[in-house]
Parts: sequence; structure tokens; C-alpha cells
Amino acid sequence: MRMYDIIEQKRNGGVLTDDQIDFFVNGYVAGSIPDYQASALLMAIFYEGMNARETARLTMDMARSGDMVDLSAIRGVKVDKHSTGGVGDKTTLVIAPLVASLGVPVAKMSGRGLGHTGGTLDKLESIPGLSVDVDMERFFRIVNEVGCAVIGQTGNLVPADKKLYALRDVTATVDSLPLIASSIMSKKIASGADAILLDVKCGSGAFMKTSEDAVALAQCMVDLGEEVGRTTVALITDMGRPLGRAIGNSLEVMEACDVLKGTASEDLTETCVELAANMLFLAGVGSLEKCRETARTQISNGQGFQKLHEMVAAQGGDARVLDDYALFAQPACSREVRSVDGGWVFAMDTERCGIASVALGAGRATKEDAIDPAAGIVLAAKTGARIASGDLMATLYANSEERLDEAERILRGVYDIRDEQPEPVPHFFARVSREGVGRFGA
Ligand code: URA
Repeated sequence: MRMYDIIEQKRNGGVLTDDQIDFFVNGYVAGSIPDYQASALLMAIFYEGMNARETARLTMDMARSGDMVDLSAIRGVKVDKHSTGGVGDKTTLVIAPLVASLGVPVAKMSGRGLGHTGGTLDKLESIPGLSVDVDMERFFRIVNEVGCAVIGQTGNLVPADKKLYALRDVTATVDSLPLIASSIMSKKIASGADAILLDVKCGSGAFMKTSEDAVALAQCMVDLGEEVGRTTVALITDMGRPLGRAIGNSLEVMEACDVLKGTASEDLTETCVELAANMLFLAGVGSLEKCRETARTQISNGQGFQKLHEMVAAQGGDARVLDDYALFAQPACSREVRSVDGGWVFAMDTERCGIASVALGAGRATKEDAIDPAAGIVLAAKTGARIASGDLMATLYANSEERLDEAERILRGVYDIRDEQPEPVPHFFARVSREGVGRFGA
């Protein structure tokens, strides 16, 4: 078999055989297929797509390219959650302890920020002392004793995705439906959970810009999960504006704490409640409505926040920062960005918000870059706000004035300000399960 023929076949719109897909994944992981041929095939897939059988084969080959985690040492129904990537998405930091505070174990392996999107591991590491490099034995012990742990992927979990994702990131082939579906589902299948909740983001800050594309991606991933016996549900959620107000690592941990203390904005709190309720529902806790109510109670009675304390301490972090935000690393400088125009914030270029936060030092421009835990943005105005000239739009935090200059320049292109009031946009568009697509508000 020749890689050249596989590339040519896909480039010409052909369908790949199982053997050809096996040859590609095994050869790329083993190092016998070079990056330039893998890149060419990724670009051909980007343009020509893959059918359901090809996507399923690619997913399972990737899942089996390394260790398959066995979570049976953890008691109870294990529910995993994965977001397709967004700006200001700190929901895992809220949901993992919230769900665990009700006795449902959360054994979660998360990722780092990529491109304009943030990563849960980078956020957690802004807590002094906290480690996400936890071996499996300690991981299981923490989940059994505390109820939840969020760690980095163990050494040999889905090496095919590690290599392919890094290649996609630099070859403009990230936003492809079969490549995203196989990347996410190979990791979820290899991580061993019994049920999977997917948060499929849609809008200007997401890889899927329209709700039709997001639903198609969700359906593909639900089918992949169900085919291998994992109950899988996807929520299509809005990323046409950043989630909450904070973008940046320690800033997002603080906002996640605010949700668990009951003092965060209603939109972020409701998004977390809906995601947590769906995880509880998948764990068999009760009807969705009952699970929503229970999740809200765990916020108002403080038990979700208490569980976050326990998880942070168990992973070696200084949990005092959760109560006293001044104990986080502090930024060297900050700047208020004020509006020149008055009117309504009609829309936001959310991807650009993510790019501004990377410019501040909150994300990586290259894989080797170090993260500044204190860098980021706190938004004062989001879509739907009525503003006057001179009003505060956002506060920026960084370790140099140069970074603030660059980020301010980028951020000024984020806001579309008009005389017209925008229609309200829901935070949830649809729920996709093996039963079909349920549209919210339809
Ligand atoms: N998140 C992933 O893990 N993989 C993708 O391809 C996109 C988002």
C-alpha cells in the first residue's frame, strides 16, 4: 500500500477503505508516514469529507493507538464531558465539583488551550501548587475519596490525536467535521467513561460557525459514542459571545468560584446548571427538571464550592485562593478600554476576543510558549448591552504595556456597535441524543 495513492484517492473525492485508514493511522503514529504526506491527506479530508464508516474507522483506530483506560476501579456511573472549544469556557471547573458533590464520580482528563480557545488544564494550573500531572493510581484514589479530579492525559492516551491535532493546528485543518469528531470521540472512548456529554459550541468563537454545522457534528459524535456502547448526548451552546465575563486563566478560575458561590452572571450560571443537569441525568439521578433543581441547590447550599476546595487540595493546590483572589499571581499592568461610539453592542467577533487574550499572554502563539496565569480580559460589555461613548468595554491584564497595546488594537475590532438593538440569542440551541434532535425554544 502507498500513502501517495491514499492521498490521491481522497483528493479525487473517493471513499477510503478500512485497510487504507488503518495504514495511515498506524504508519503516522509509528513515524513511517512523514508529516508532509499526513498534512496532504488531512487537507484532502478537509475538502472532500468522510462518510460515517470512514469517520468511525478513523475514530476507533485513533482510540486504539495507545492505552485504553479502564475506570472500573472507580465506583459508580462515570460521566465524562467535553467541549469542542470556546472563549471564556470555564464550565468544567464548575460542573465537575457540582456533579461530584451529589455522589456522581467525575474522572476527567482535560486539554490545554489551542489556537484562540482556552484549555482547562492551563486554568487549573493558575492555582498555586496544583498539579494536573497525576498518575493513574493517584487519579483513581482522588476520585474515590473526593469524588472528582481533573488531570492531563496520561502519557500514552491516543497518541494518534496528539500528533494529528498538533499537525492540524499548523495546517489550517482543525475545523473539519470528521477530523473534530474523530479527535474528540477517540479521546472520550479511550478515557473509559460510561456516558459522555458533549458541549458543541456554535458561533463566531467556535470551530462550527452555524447551528446546522454544529448539529451535524453533534449527530456524528453521538452516533460514534452509541456505536461503542457509550450513552452520548450533545448540547449545542452559543459561542457567538464569550461565556461569562472573564477570559484568561486565573480570571476564569475566579469566575468559576463566583458561579459556585452564587454570585456570577445569570447566563454563565444557567449554562453550568444545564450542563451539570445533563451529566446528572446521564448518571441516572432523575428527570432533567429534577437534575436542574438539584444542581441549583448544590450552588445555593455551598456544597459544590466545598467540593471544588476538596479537589484543589487533593491535587496539591493552595485552596485559599478560592476565597481570597489576591493570593493568585497578580498582573504587572492593566488597562481600561472605553468605547468611542455609543449605541447597542449588536454582535461580537468572539474568535477575536480569544486572539486578544492570547496576545495578552493567556494562551500560546506556539506550542512552546509559556502561559501568563494572570493575563486576560474582563468584559464589561457584551452583545445586547446599551453603551454610551466613554463607557467601559473591557479591562485588560498583562505583564507589559506592549502586550496591552497589541490586545487593545485587536479588541477594538471585536465589537459591532449599531443604533439597532439585536434580537436576544439563546444560550442553548439544541439537545442531540440517540432519540434525535430537540431544538430549545422550538
Ligand atoms: N477539541 C478536540 O479535542 N479536538 C478537535 O479537533 C477540536 C476540539
